[in-house]
Amino acid sequence: MMSIVLVGFMGVGKTTIGELLSEKCNKSLVDIDSYIVNTMKLSIPEIFDKYGEQYFRDLETKALLEWIDKDVIISTGGGIVESTSTKRILNKTRHVFWLKCDIEVVFKRIQQDNNRPNANGKSLKELKALYSKRELSYNEIAFKQIDADRPIEVVANEIIESL
Ligand code: S3P
Repeated sequence: MMSIVLVGFMGVGKTTIGELLSEKCNKSLVDIDSYIVNTMKLSIPEIFDKYGEQYFRDLETKALLEWIDKDVIISTGGGIVESTSTKRILNKTRHVFWLKCDIEVVFKRIQQDNNRPNANGKSLKELKALYSKRELSYNEIAFKQIDADRPIEVVANEIIESL
C-alpha cells in the first residue's frame, strides 16, 4: 500500500481534511509540519529564524522520504513543492490530492498567523504571487484536484471515492 498525500496552499485545510480521512480510512495521519516540529523540538518560525528556510525544506524532504511508501495519510506543508527533490518524489507517487480553495478565502485565515513565516504580514498581492508560482507545481504532481471550498465531509468523501 502507498500513502495518500494532501498538497495545496497554506490555510486550505490539509490538516483538517487529513484528520477526517485518517478516521474514515482507519489509517494514521502524518502531518509533515507537526512531525518536523516534534523531532526538532522547535516551532516552524524558530526553525526558519535559526536555520533558514532551505534547512526547513531539507527537513521536509527527509520527512517525506521517511513516510511516502507507508500506508498512511500524509498532510504536507504548502511549500512542499519549493524543492525539486520533493517534487520528484511526489511525481512518482500515485495518490497526491491537490486541495484548492480561493486565494482570497485563505488570505483571511493566514495573513495574521504568526506561526506561518511565509504568510505572516504578507499582502494579498504577495500571497497571490506566491500562489501562482506554486500552482504549476501542485498541478504537475496532482493525481486529482479537489475543491476544498466545501464542507469537509464532502471533500473527504470525494477523495475516498477516487482512490
Ligand atoms: C509553508 C507552509 C506551512 C509550513 C511552513 C511553510 C509555506 O504549512 O510548512 O510555514 O511555505 O507555504 P501549511 O501549508 O500547513 O500552512
